Amino acid sequence: MRQVSCFPVIDLKNLTANNMSKTIIVTGGAGFIGSAVVRQWLAETDWHLVCLDKLTYAGNSTSLPASHPRFELAVMDICHAVAVRTLITRVQPDAIVHLAAESHVDRSISGPGEFIQTNVVGTYELLQATREYWNALERERKAAFRFHHVSTDEVYGTLGAEGYFDENTAYAPNSPYSASKAGSDHLVRAWHHTYGLPVVTTNCSNNYGPYHFPEKLIPLMILNGLAGKPLPVYGDGLNVRDWLFVEDHARAIRAVLEHGRVGETYCVGGRAERTNMQVVNTLCELLDELHPQGAPHARLITYVKDRPGHDRRYAIDCSKLETELGWRQQETFESGLRKTVQWYLDNPEWVQGVISGSYRQWIDHNYAARGQA
Ligand code: NAD
Ligand code: DAU
Repeated sequence: MRQVSCFPVIDLKNLTANNMSKTIIVTGGAGFIGSAVVRQWLAETDWHLVCLDKLTYAGNSTSLPASHPRFELAVMDICHAVAVRTLITRVQPDAIVHLAAESHVDRSISGPGEFIQTNVVGTYELLQATREYWNALERERKAAFRFHHVSTDEVYGTLGAEGYFDENTAYAPNSPYSASKAGSDHLVRAWHHTYGLPVVTTNCSNNYGPYHFPEKLIPLMILNGLAGKPLPVYGDGLNVRDWLFVEDHARAIRAVLEHGRVGETYCVGGRAERTNMQVVNTLCELLDELHPQGAPHARLITYVKDRPGHDRRYAIDCSKLETELGWRQQETFESGLRKTVQWYLDNPEWVQGVISGSYRQWIDHNYAARGQA
């Protein structure tokens, strides 16, 4: 049985038996990227992982191992200072990897409050609790400790037809989501600069892959395509995103956590720029091949009203991560997308589990508000 606790108790027998192993708190570990981090790191390291997650609509315990001796799920809100402090004190982590956030741009437009609360206030509470804990560590553990903040390329705003975001790009967030993430990046930076907290930050481009909540472009298109429902393309469909397979992002986070320089930022990207129409057309071709009953799926493409303030193009120059830390992505966009479509075909139970009443309400609200273009 998976251990689920509000004030979790780590299995001390395990820790003593394996005392060279790191113990890491992964906030937001029940979300899309966080759960990929948990699954991958449990498989590839001997680390003990504690997932701190509020289990919002986007958090899903069925994306996590049902039972694992080095894993625990602690259901709590990062904004709850007392609970977070209690957890950190009990777990005595070697690192905190911070992914918990409200993450969907469309939701941030219709309801920005939760984004300010979790992404800004929550990050502040987590930083304060971490600083208090870190200050009390003995010298060696204090020097080795890391707070890894996982952020987004959206903090840099939007690009024209040319150029790339890199670590020196000025911040220019355009949506309530990206503004709240920019706020959290600045807090993390300040806690390093002012208090000396050993932080690293990664700013990554669009992820895709298994266990992705079906309100973002790729999983929404796959599931709507399978159900014979419209494939809603915002505006002219020519906005560009730089896509990265989620497992490659998890590997990048680990590389930076283990080898990144303290106080530094690393941009992470897939060198896979695609217009939304290219993404949707490729998905339709894959669905035609893997689920021919609904072919041709492209007949379902429907242009809808654009997202307000829709950033035109994102593209990442990730050469710092590649040259300093030797990270390379392992999936191409084509191989990763094929794996993703196949995963959704193979995992209908997971899909049914996440398509709850609140999900339907959101989808209905979002697309009723948009209408046909
Ligand atoms: P997600 O929405 O799938 O998951 C977020 C997780 O955080 C969920 O499990 C949710 O329950 C949890 N959470 C939300 N509020 C919380 C709170 N107050 N306390 C504790 N837990 C809470 O998000 P994701 O796509 O996995 O993104 C993870 C992180 O990576 C975010 O910080 C996001 O900004 C960043 N990021 C995402 C992408 C992407 O393409 N998805 C790209 C770059 C960076
Ligand atoms: O760039 C990194 C960011 O990528 C992350 O920080 C965010 O957490 C993540 O959600 C993602 O943001 P986007 O807004 O780029 O992702 P989304 O999947 O919502 O949209 C991708 C593109 O597809 C965007 O241009 C809007 C468009 N779109 C989206 C949806 C949901 C559509 O055309 N139709 C849709 O139904």
